[in-house]
Amino acid sequence: MCGIIGYIGEREAAEILVEGLKRLEYRGYDSVGIVTEKGELFIKKGAGKIDELKEKLKLHEMPGNRGIGHTRWATHGIPNDINAHPHTDCTGKIAVVHNGIIENYLELRSELEKKGHTFKSDTDTEVIAHLIEEALKDSSTFEGALRKALLKLRGSFALGIMYAGDKERLYFVRNESPLVLGIGNGEMFAASDIPAFLPYTNKVVFLDDGEYAVVSKDAFTVKDLGTGKEKKKEIHEINWTLEMAEKQGYPHFMLKEIHEQPKAVKEAIYGNLETIDKVAEEIAKYEKMFVVAMGTSYHAGIAAKYLFQRLANKPVLVEEASEFRYEFENIVDENSLVIAITQSGETADTLAAIRLAKKKGAKVLSIVNVVGSMATRLSDLVIYTHAGPEIGVAATKTYTTQLTVLTMLAIALAKVLNTVDEDYLKKLKAELLKLPRYIEAVLGYENKIKSLAEELIDRRDFFYIGRGISVATALEGALKLKEISYIHAEGLSAGELKHGPLALIEEGVPVVAISPSGKTFDKMVSNIQEVNARKGFVISLGDNEELEKVSKVFLKMPKIDELLSPIVYIVPLQLLAYHLAVLRGNDPDKPRNLAKSVTVE
Ligand code: F6R
Repeated sequence: MCGIIGYIGEREAAEILVEGLKRLEYRGYDSVGIVTEKGELFIKKGAGKIDELKEKLKLHEMPGNRGIGHTRWATHGIPNDINAHPHTDCTGKIAVVHNGIIENYLELRSELEKKGHTFKSDTDTEVIAHLIEEALKDSSTFEGALRKALLKLRGSFALGIMYAGDKERLYFVRNESPLVLGIGNGEMFAASDIPAFLPYTNKVVFLDDGEYAVVSKDAFTVKDLGTGKEKKKEIHEINWTLEMAEKQGYPHFMLKEIHEQPKAVKEAIYGNLETIDKVAEEIAKYEKMFVVAMGTSYHAGIAAKYLFQRLANKPVLVEEASEFRYEFENIVDENSLVIAITQSGETADTLAAIRLAKKKGAKVLSIVNVVGSMATRLSDLVIYTHAGPEIGVAATKTYTTQLTVLTMLAIALAKVLNTVDEDYLKKLKAELLKLPRYIEAVLGYENKIKSLAEELIDRRDFFYIGRGISVATALEGALKLKEISYIHAEGLSAGELKHGPLALIEEGVPVVAISPSGKTFDKMVSNIQEVNARKGFVISLGDNEELEKVSKVFLKMPKIDELLSPIVYIVPLQLLAYHLAVLRGNDPDKPRNLAKSVTVE
């Protein structure tokens, strides 16, 4: 969804901007551009990835100690050199980089054209530069013009703005798209996400919607866009390290993040062990429970539904946040608990669902990875997943840590509500603590999975089936494959197979059967046999060795309670998707058409 960055200080800005954009490339990677200033503005931009353009355009050689930059994920206008950011006004003195969508740009553009402004690109962003130019005609200060112009915008925007006539400052604005300031010593940074400036500072200030920052090398001021009044902001110290945001010898971030899961799950457990009971007590009284999320986080929500229903006898409605916000207005109320799951804490649909829930008086609990992100600031309660920064676009360690904290919460809720036998809860807790070891064990299957990927490289369709809580694993396994290998995949409950999808099973079609021991194990075996009868290629995951007899490939999984199994069983499926993607020549860290954090609806 585009990444923006800004720097002002004593160092050469271009190098910092290019390096920071590399760390933001997961947010968009179809075009790149930067503007720096040394007496005048220097702009270089083009379609393509940063590494190519860095050499081609000699980006890092641009002069000056302040600048802003952008990596694009196209929304308005195809990815080409002209549509790449920064965009400028008619005079070329105002440069803007933007993440988000300006909804009323067509009407603004036509008004500006009538006033004589000439547009160069097809983007919605360019109107911003011209609007400021227009406002500057009758404003005594650049800041005044900026506010006047920005108040005309409708939509989502995180902006970096630079004016040739104001050599000491940069301007940043946030409305519904993430933006964070990095506070250095004699230098300041701003970016869509913290890893962009993590080599230089871990002191950050999160901007809220409707705020803008005026930043010089030694100071920053945050103000309300509507009133122009200054706002007090807290400086947070983030405990992420640079190593966390680097590949550390792995060929891709995704592979590194898959392998980090034993540690991430451990951090999720120990980071919440002391506080989870208190959260459970606070939510126990709510009769109506909703879970809202998108994508992988939504799949964690599906698992949560089984956990809360089985352990705490609580019926749970899991909804995609994009649907919830339009369909649940009359259903959610002050007796409702809404659990929002979002690793970034910035997903537009999930934030909109949270806002609706708050408006209707519901209690909102967010499960979030990024400290200080918007979801955490909108919610009544927050549980952090402590996964560390996740750079690969495909979610891996943030998913298993979401599952971990949701499992802990369901166990704690069951204890408060006294809904299940205490010995059973103790057994679950003991197994939970062993999860890092179990994940480590299944990571040992990597070579076997790589060989399997080699065998299946040309298959067109995959099916993932499971029952009960394993439906979540089926859905997530299929999503991982689709998004990075570009192979069509469907995840479904095994019971559904006979009601239609079985028609698609023919010789050699891979069917991944997620079959932990539990209530429905026998039923799963029957479903596997139905696939075998149509000569499908069954890959089964389970702890019961009987599965080996009915499967082409069997991955023996640790013996673990079915309710905890999603946290372990997804790991081989992440590896399968990863190796298929790499073998097919795709970059798993940057899947086509996708961006890490979806900050537009
Ligand atoms: C898939 C993936 C996405 C995200 C979704 C929600 O691998 O990463 O489906 O899960 O965009 O993102 P968050 O969790 O940041 O709200």
